[in-house]
Amino acid sequence: MNTLELKRVAEIDYGTPEKDAATMVTLDIDGKTVTVPAGTSVMRASVEAGIPIPKLCATDTLEAFGSCRVCLVEIEGRKGYPASCTTPVEAGMKVRTQTPKLAEIRRGMVELYISDHPLDCLTCAANGDCELQDVAGQVGLREVRYGYDGENHLVAKKDESNPYFAYDPAKCIVCNRCVRACEETQGTFALTIDGRGFASRVAAGQNEDFMDSECVSCGACVQACPTATLTEKTVIMLGQPTRSEITTCAYCGVGCGFKAELQGDKVVRMVPWKDGQANHGHACVKGRFAWGYATHKDRMLKPMIRKQITDPWQEVSWDEAISYAAGEFRRIQQKHGKDAIGGITSSRCTNEETYLVQKLVRAAFGNNNVDTCARVCHSPTGYGLKQTLGESAGTQTFDSVMQADVIMVIGANPAAAHPVFASQMKRRLRQGAKLIVVDPRTTEMVKGAHYEADYHLKLKPGTNVATISALAHVIVTEGLVDEAFVAGRCDAQSFSDWKAFVSRPENSPEAMEAVTGVPAELMRGAARLYATGGNAAIYYGLGVTEHAQGSTMVMGIANLAMATGNIGRDGVGVNPLRGQNNVQGSCDMGSFPHELPGYRHISDIATRQLFESAWGVTLDAEPGLRIPNMFEAALDGSFLGLYCQGEDIVQSDPNTQHVAEALSKMECIVVQDLFLNETAKYAHVFLPGSSFLEKDGTFTNAERRISRVRKVMPAKGGYSDWEVTQLLANALGYPMNYTHPSEIMDEIARLTPTFHGVSFDKIDRLGSVQWPCNEQAPEGTPIMHVDEFVRGKGRFIITQYIATDEKVTQRYPLILTTGRILSQYNVGAQTRRTENVRWHSEDRLEIHPHDADERGIRDGDWVGIASRSGQTVLRATITENVQPGVVYTTFHFPESGANVITTDNSDWATNCPEYKVTAVQVMPVTQPSEWQKQHQRFTQEQLELARIDG
Ligand code: SF4
Ligand code: SF4
Ligand code: SF4
Ligand code: FES
Repeated sequence: MNTLELKRVAEIDYGTPEKDAATMVTLDIDGKTVTVPAGTSVMRASVEAGIPIPKLCATDTLEAFGSCRVCLVEIEGRKGYPASCTTPVEAGMKVRTQTPKLAEIRRGMVELYISDHPLDCLTCAANGDCELQDVAGQVGLREVRYGYDGENHLVAKKDESNPYFAYDPAKCIVCNRCVRACEETQGTFALTIDGRGFASRVAAGQNEDFMDSECVSCGACVQACPTATLTEKTVIMLGQPTRSEITTCAYCGVGCGFKAELQGDKVVRMVPWKDGQANHGHACVKGRFAWGYATHKDRMLKPMIRKQITDPWQEVSWDEAISYAAGEFRRIQQKHGKDAIGGITSSRCTNEETYLVQKLVRAAFGNNNVDTCARVCHSPTGYGLKQTLGESAGTQTFDSVMQADVIMVIGANPAAAHPVFASQMKRRLRQGAKLIVVDPRTTEMVKGAHYEADYHLKLKPGTNVATISALAHVIVTEGLVDEAFVAGRCDAQSFSDWKAFVSRPENSPEAMEAVTGVPAELMRGAARLYATGGNAAIYYGLGVTEHAQGSTMVMGIANLAMATGNIGRDGVGVNPLRGQNNVQGSCDMGSFPHELPGYRHISDIATRQLFESAWGVTLDAEPGLRIPNMFEAALDGSFLGLYCQGEDIVQSDPNTQHVAEALSKMECIVVQDLFLNETAKYAHVFLPGSSFLEKDGTFTNAERRISRVRKVMPAKGGYSDWEVTQLLANALGYPMNYTHPSEIMDEIARLTPTFHGVSFDKIDRLGSVQWPCNEQAPEGTPIMHVDEFVRGKGRFIITQYIATDEKVTQRYPLILTTGRILSQYNVGAQTRRTENVRWHSEDRLEIHPHDADERGIRDGDWVGIASRSGQTVLRATITENVQPGVVYTTFHFPESGANVITTDNSDWATNCPEYKVTAVQVMPVTQPSEWQKQHQRFTQEQLELARIDG
């Protein structure tokens, strides 16, 4: 059994967190010599030596609290019985953990707890997984002298308001673990111990139900609770799991490790994996609880075909569906040329699956018409970081934030989109790191429990580049450049050109104030703090990339990090917060039309030859079509077939009407998905997709960390996604014969220098691995660009601000910007089919009180939002979180039509849509927009064609 397999079997709780001290201390525990890092608790030292000590309030994910007094020990030369969880080791200490006196005291303590506890172990959900039960056994408690008739809490009211877990105060032993988990692990501070002495109990918020409190349902308290007081409702319903498997969350780019706990093929609960290197045992409401979509009744489990999108769907066998799709693709190619078809890979699928789709397009379709949903989110990251640093990826590990002294968050709201990383970041902020937030909105990152931004640069949407140039201006003109770093590590000519550019008076904060709306003084303060505050790290999101100048801004960020020497070590760096679970991986795997796996240009002869000889085909040397070009080509009749795996382009791409019109012109759209999504309404072949629970493979998170996805149940539709692509390739006459995704990874590793050392075996052994992983870095690369940049010398690039074409006018006087919310994920196809809708059941339009007043809009009113592209109707939320002149919405529900409003404007380098800036007018209305009415009709028709009840 390897290390990982052992960990899967039993997770030991060491009682207190591991210490990372350079000095080691040796002591004696029950006659055994033990050596541990200084600062380690006696309890942890003892457990590490294989000597367990009973405990109730201690757990190794939380700092010791010392309240239950069950863990007492005797220490030679010390009076009394110190608690082993709060006593640090000392050199030469002699500890005894088992004596008759200790046994008596422990029994007495546990007896008190048990006397106020319902004796319903046999019917309790935690039976067999209850630490109180275990400890009672450990201390040999056989009877309770006080009886059970005294004052107790057995009639205390249960709180079942949260859809995923229940709180039964009768079982609470007031160990405070949940309160500490909410504070230390999650950082929400939603729980307190209310009352004193015997009357004390855990309370959420101001003694409210969990659902009415600030609780964000991360589940950390549930995991920390040693009894059945806080319990998952699935465990109450189904009972204890009987087996487990380690896998990776399929939601966001944090890539949390999970232990899927099951009974047979039925998931009982998802427990964040303590050894998960991205999450260290924490999770959010999506990964931990919102997995019910995998077995939702809307799952489409049978292949279907139809000639026209107005025809009823016909259920067919896999063979028939695959041979129909292959036949149609070949027919289209024969008639319209080989370039008339293409494919779209999914950032939700595994690396192995995206690799196969791009291989299918290049080798079996014979063109490079492959693109990915990263086109619409982080394609500017790929471009911008490659140009400046030489590699299209973030530079750090998440853990690196714990060494940061200054954290700059630009256009990102990790509390909503990357919650587990946000918890880690907030922990660092509570430790005293400084915070700069660059965001038009006042998000949770600006102010929260025990932290507040030192600077909030509340810029106008669309003025990122003006802001980054103004920050650079201060750094350069005030002599804050790290000259030694620049001289040693960066390209001198590019630096001097950039320096001259940013020094120009027109780039000063004062000159830019009118453009950005940020007071010059604040801009100067933020720049000084970033350049002089110690280790400074930048974290950015789609608020940077989804702009007409998205790539320019990414390069501006890299410039700033290089100029201040904030790159190449712990605590610094340039960190794109990738949205979807495998957006990094789908880009790495060669999903873009101009790049083969590993970001090597298709025009490079040597690279092409390598793939040609491995794949046995001749590759087209010309880049293929990007997604927006596919739409244009469809409209002009030259692009007629599309294989779209796990991506809902109709909902997620901008200007919905344009996308829908393009798809309506095509002759064979093959959609492979879990649900009949918006794109499937335009499809001719539907192939059932498989959820992350139904396949093997790997995901790569925002830290370049490759983690295993493990199949815990058979594919409900019959095949995992990679197998379906393989069937299609074979039907097209291009042979693919993989028997397991590990063989696909072996091929990727053979053909991609940054992956040369990656294999499933290695990932199983190490838990996960960060690329580059090759001969030079056999165990992976946590921090990039340490001694030199991947491209050699770091290259500064001039970032000239160019105002977007999307101008506000009298007709469209407001700017609409879009984003995400914690409980929903992207197009919502998964989270909308879970209880997460209890937190967010509709997309709403946020509007400032001033703008609402001017238009006679009250909170909750229906409002029409009109842009140059289209119109939709949402309900209004009046809030000062948006500034006057700016409105905001999410895009999780198809009927909201947020992308009916967004335009075709896009990033100059990558075509990433300018989702964050759309000029709109907002007015009170009484009925849905024309588009919404038409969408509702079309949806109903399509559901009927699939014989599905709406
Ligand atoms: S679920 Fe999370 S946020 Fe809610 S009370 Fe528990 S720890 Fe706090
Ligand atoms: S709810 Fe659980 S974790 Fe919280 S104090 Fe009670 S027993 Fe301890
Ligand atoms: S933070 Fe992201 S990866 Fe982690 S559990 Fe939540 S959604 Fe999943
Ligand atoms: S475990 Fe040490 S006092 Fe509770």
